[in-house]
Amino acid sequence: MATSLDGASNIDGKSAPLSTPADRILFHVLRSQSDAIVVGAGTVEKENYRPPSVPPPHLALRRSMGKEGPPKMVVVSGSAALDPHCQLLSDSPSENPPIVAVTASAKSAKVKELAARADIVVAGDEHIDPPALRAALSERGLRHVLCEGGPKLLGSLMEADMVDELCLTLATLVAGGQSSSLLGAPQLPTPLPFVLTSIMSAEGSVFLRLGRDRSEPRGEP
Ligand SMILES: NC(=O)c1ccc[n+]([C@@H]2O[C@H](COP(=O)([O-])OP(=O)(O)OC[C@H]3O[C@@H](n4cnc5c(N)ncnc54)[C@H](OP(=O)(O)O)[C@@H]3O)[C@@H](O)[C@H]2O)c1
Repeated sequence: MATSLDGASNIDGKSAPLSTPADRILFHVLRSQSDAIVVGAGTVEKENYRPPSVPPPHLALRRSMGKEGPPKMVVVSGSAALDPHCQLLSDSPSENPPIVAVTASAKSAKVKELAARADIVVAGDEHIDPPALRAALSERGLRHVLCEGGPKLLGSLMEADMVDELCLTLATLVAGGQSSSLLGAPQLPTPLPFVLTSIMSAEGSVFLRLGRDRSEPRGEP
């Protein structure tokens, strides 16, 4: 995820102005280590997602981890409102279609349209149930899961406390305006502590890697 100094997750609906060439390299390093890329339907649409590929400089890393082929794309679209003609679905090879995660309350006609181009996973009744989604991916051998947002989806993963690591690019600019924050508005009973595991800087941006701190709650004796 990338954010501006004032916490914006997009500028005019796009995340590209928050990114740099160094950030793109990290983006591909993270992708090349993952079994699955989970992304919200809003981001697929706004960012015009396409089927993922691993650029040649990252293939060796991927192979060294015993992974072949590109990561599996998983789109979360609780109501199945994802456009079945979006580029991600229409350009994916029929032998390796993306997964679309929907809820049991999604309209069956919409699910049917998506099922012509994707593998459908039902995870949750009214809202996506993140543990059920994780279990469904795990059953398919997809264990190292990278979430690329957007804020709504990442917020629901935070609510379920299912984010083990956060890789955060801090773009050194102020976006202003009404852009949504990094995480939507997750309802958390208590703040979730993270610990900084690495910090790098390049091309004017700061790259933070943070691990979820699951030790005793902070402030407790
Ligand atoms: N700065 C960054 O790093 C970054 C990264 C990614 C995206 N973005 C930006 O974020 C914006 C889009 O983000 P967004 O928050 O509006 O959308 P999003 O999280 O990508 O997608 C929202 C959609 O995903 C589905 N969804 C997400 N969480 C769900 C849940 N818990 N249960 C059921 N369905 C769920 C719903 O689809 P249905 O409506 O189909 O049910 C929902 O409408 C874009 O402007 C993009 O550029 C920024």
